[in-house]
Amino acid sequence: MKYRESGMPEVRYWESLFDIEAVLDVFGFDSSTGAVAELGCGYGTFTLPLAQRTGAPVHAFDIEPEMAAATRARAEAAGMANVAVSMRDVFAEGFGLDSGSCGACLLFNILHGEAPVPALCEAGRVVRPGGMVAVIHWRSDLATPRGPSLEIRPRPEQIVAWAEECGGLAVEGEPQCVGPWHFALRLRKL
Ligand SMILES: C[S@@+](CC[C@H](N)C(=O)[O-])C[C@H]1O[C@@H](n2cnc3c(N)ncnc32)[C@H](O)[C@@H]1O
Repeated sequence: MKYRESGMPEVRYWESLFDIEAVLDVFGFDSSTGAVAELGCGYGTFTLPLAQRTGAPVHAFDIEPEMAAATRARAEAAGMANVAVSMRDVFAEGFGLDSGSCGACLLFNILHGEAPVPALCEAGRVVRPGGMVAVIHWRSDLATPRGPSLEIRPRPEQIVAWAEECGGLAVEGEPQCVGPWHFALRLRKL
């Protein structure tokens, strides 16, 4: 099932809303990160820059064939062999990756969906001890040009409480603002 309010606007507009490198910097992604899983890659906005800086496999998943195709086409055009894109309903099927097989998992602009706790638990499952579940989402404390309805938009403290339900994930530091409209939250796998 496609998560509620997870449709995408036109690519250039979407990508004008982020400082992509600043987002990746907040999480410290670099050549030591290892493999990454990404739930809902969309246009590959973060997928390709991430794969570029880590040099490791990025397993990107999206339920929408158009989104998976867009990310795949960009990876192919860039000659990036370390991006693997799958069309998959992660809500229903999980990632299909081995437990502890990734150094990080991206949950970017997705935790307003139904059943955020299972999504966080699945992210925690695929990350190795010491790895990171990386979350960004639209802020709720100011007007934003996009983003899901305020009633379903999670705040950082809500995500931390959900992560506690999963167990094995500890919040690292304070949530940080990244760009004008997003916060970033780092959850470390124990
Ligand atoms: C708001 S977009 C965010 C895209 C990307 N994470 C970003 O921040 O640029 C959410 C994406 O999640 C995808 N999605 C929604 N439900 C999904 C599901 N059940 N499994 C996998 N992907 C899903 C949507 O198709 C969409 O591309």
